[in-house]
Amino acid sequence: MTFDVTTQFSVSARGIKPSPIREMFHMLRTPGMISFAGGMPAPEVFPVDEFAAGASILREQGRDILQYGTTEGYPPLMDFLCSWMAPRLGRTPSRDEILITTGSSQVCDLLIRATVDRGDYVVTEEPTFLGNTINMYNQGAKFITVPCDADGMMVDLLPEKLDAVLAAGGKVRFIYTIPNFHNPSGVTLSVERRKKLVEIAKRYGLIILEDDPYGNVRFEGEDLPTIYSLDSDGHVLYAGSFSKILAPGTRVGWCIGPAALVRTMAVFKQGVDTSTSIVAQALVWKYCSSGALDAFLPKIIDNYRRKRDLMEGALRKYMPKGEAEWVTPHGGFFYWVTTPHVDAAELFKKCVARKVAFVVGSPFYPNGGGEHSFRMCFTFATPEQMDAGIRTLGECVRELLPVAAK
Ligand SMILES: Cc1ncc(COP(=O)(O)O)c(C=O)c1O
Repeated sequence: MTFDVTTQFSVSARGIKPSPIREMFHMLRTPGMISFAGGMPAPEVFPVDEFAAGASILREQGRDILQYGTTEGYPPLMDFLCSWMAPRLGRTPSRDEILITTGSSQVCDLLIRATVDRGDYVVTEEPTFLGNTINMYNQGAKFITVPCDADGMMVDLLPEKLDAVLAAGGKVRFIYTIPNFHNPSGVTLSVERRKKLVEIAKRYGLIILEDDPYGNVRFEGEDLPTIYSLDSDGHVLYAGSFSKILAPGTRVGWCIGPAALVRTMAVFKQGVDTSTSIVAQALVWKYCSSGALDAFLPKIIDNYRRKRDLMEGALRKYMPKGEAEWVTPHGGFFYWVTTPHVDAAELFKKCVARKVAFVVGSPFYPNGGGEHSFRMCFTFATPEQMDAGIRTLGECVRELLPVAAK
């Protein structure tokens, strides 16, 4: 008789949820599918030639970089990041405050391992990036969710929610926020609220995970101070990634934060993957340290700003008037669209049958909700796909409107 391996599963594995986005990846590869689903960079802008030229590092340093490396990271890349990040962090971190990770998703994973016991609470925005909250859920976390408006997390609502959980004996471990060009809502946390969030972290003794893969992809307006730079007491763990500013296939991310936390996360990482690929880190370093990253950023910003404008124009043109709401993002990758009279799951079925895909809203709500919203990524589709796909989307919304709203 075949052994039922599931009898050996852990409590976590028995309740495990997959990421709806990653599960969609196969479907998105169907020929002819127009995808606004995955948060994918535009492949036409990848710096393929420059990266290929940087592969000369294999000849220059092959005997080192083909060997096992230290868990904390490839030292030249750690040093590069400490100085490249300094203006945004307000200081130059030291080597013991940085950890190179396998994508910035691993930052969240290691922070959960380092802080969360089953049943502990994490504070998140509502909606929020489901890749990370699914990992939190799979490792036994519960959620305190705080709604967002056009200025990001409504932090004034947080103390009351924290008090309620603490009064009931719950433990709250960290606040997870995506301050710039939020995934999925596209909004940016105001400076006022960043300061308040730091005050709350201090008052309640919490860590803030500042997840910032989009902070360097700003189309207009001034950069806002990082939450990290507004804190002087070691509450903030800043997470960065090369996925959206260079290439996600590198799987190189990083975090910068209090040395004691970074050290503990590094110890967990030893058991998870020994280190992030040293070859990938060396290639990224070779590219960045030549000044190529700083020269590349304006190119992607330009490309994505044009695509954002195309999506804005197409949404205005094709969505039925008064039946769709969104906040125009000033950077990043996403539109978050709300259709008050149309269920996003119904809309998804209709659109996918016509070869247009997006991500429905509800998985972005860890405690439920979001049935009338969906996420649209504008960086990946071509201009032609953008127009055709959003025309189809608009038609499908119209077909699903209740008679009274038509
Ligand atoms: C807010 C946010 N955090 C983290 C990640 C994960 O990025 P990485 O590819 O660096 O793991 C993403 C990717 O979409 C994201 O949107």
